Amino acid sequence: MAAEGVTGQAVRDTSVRHDYNHDDDCKRSEYELSAFDGSVFDSDAGSIASSMSSAVRSNSSILSNVGNYKFEHNRRYHSYREGNWVLPNDQQEQDRMDIFHQMALLRMDDKLHLAPLENPRRILDIGTGTGIWAIEMAFKYPNARIIGTDLSPIQVSPPANCSFEVEDADSEWVYPTNNFDMIHTRQLLGGICDWRRFFEQAYAHARPGGWLELQETPPEIHTDGPAPPADLPFLRIFSLFAEASATTSRPFVDQVSQFASHMEAVGFVDVTSESRRLPLGTWSTDPTEKEIGRYNVLNFVEGMEAYTLALFTRVLGMTAEQVRSLIDEAKKDVCNRKRRWYFDLVIVRGRKPYTDEVVST
Ligand SMILES: C[S@@+](CC[C@H](N)C(=O)[O-])C[C@H]1O[C@@H](n2cnc3c(N)ncnc32)[C@H](O)[C@@H]1O
Repeated sequence: MAAEGVTGQAVRDTSVRHDYNHDDDCKRSEYELSAFDGSVFDSDAGSIASSMSSAVRSNSSILSNVGNYKFEHNRRYHSYREGNWVLPNDQQEQDRMDIFHQMALLRMDDKLHLAPLENPRRILDIGTGTGIWAIEMAFKYPNARIIGTDLSPIQVSPPANCSFEVEDADSEWVYPTNNFDMIHTRQLLGGICDWRRFFEQAYAHARPGGWLELQETPPEIHTDGPAPPADLPFLRIFSLFAEASATTSRPFVDQVSQFASHMEAVGFVDVTSESRRLPLGTWSTDPTEKEIGRYNVLNFVEGMEAYTLALFTRVLGMTAEQVRSLIDEAKKDVCNRKRRWYFDLVIVRGRKPYTDEVVST
C-alpha cells in the first residue's frame, strides 16, 4: 500500500504492514517486551512532528504510529518496533550521530564510502539515523536516488533525489530485488537480530555488480601502550555493556568479526575487511588522529548515556542515578590525557557478482 508524499515519491502506509511486532520473527528478550517506566509522556509531540521529514509527515497514519515516541529517564526512544533499538532518538543522540559522521569522514580521508561506484543510480542506506550520510551521498551523486531507512523518522527534509522511509531491516525488505548499486550501513550494530538473514537480503536486493558496505565500531577498547587498571569506571562500563547486551536478541558484541564470512557465504565476492583506528583523546602525534581523538571524546561524552541507560536500567536493574554517576566517573577517564585508548572503525565491503561471472570455489 502506498501514498504519494509531498516530495512526489511513493510513501508506504506502514500502519498496515508495520503493526507492532508484525512479521518480526526474532526472539525478543524479556526486557525488550517489558513496558517502559512511569516517566512516559508525550508533551514533545509538536516538536516531534516538526522534525519529521516531509515525506513521512505527509502520511497521517504513519505519523500516528511512529511519532508516539516513548520517554524514559528523560531520554526519548523510538516507538515503531518499540524496544528493538536501545539508544534514544532525541536531539542529544542526533547530535552525537552527526559528530560520529564527521569523525568517520576524517578517518575515511573525506570519503563517504570505499566501494568503487561508477555512476550509481540507486543507493540504500539502512539505519540512516539523521540521514546525514544519505543526504551527502545525494549531493555527491545527483543522478542517483538515495533511500534512507530507519525505525525513527528523525531526518530533516532531504534534497529531491533523496527520501527517507520508516522500515525495520529485520523485516522482509520491501524494495525490488537486483536493484541497488550500493547498500550501506554505519553503526547498525545492536539493531539486527539475525545478521545472516540481513546479508541474504542485502545480496538479493543488490544489483549484479552492486556493493554492500558496512562501517562499524565494535565495542572493544584497545590501548596503545601498557594496559590501564581494569577497575577504571570507563572499563567497567564496557564490561557491563557486554554483559547486558549479550542477554538481548540484538547484541552489540561478537558480530563484526563474522561479517566478511557471512558475506562470502551468501555469495558476495571481492569481500574485504579493514580496520582504521579511532583514538580517544589527543594522545596521537598524527594530526588527523589528534583531530579524530577530539571528535571521539565528544562522541563518548555525549554517547555513553545513550548506549548504556536503557540497557543498564532494564537489563541490569541499575537505577538511572547509578548509571549516570558511573558515567560521570567514566568521563574523567575519557578526558584523561595519559590514556592511549583507541577503537576500530571496521569497514567491510563486498560485491554481488554479475550473472555471467565465474566464481571460483
Ligand atoms: C547509531 S545510529 C547510526 C545512524 C547513521 N547510520 C549514521 O552513521 O549516522 C543507528 C541507527 O539505526 C537505526 N536502526 C537500528 N535498528 C534498525 C533496524 N532494525 N532497522 C532500521 N533502522 C534501525 C536506529 O534507529 C538509529 O537511527
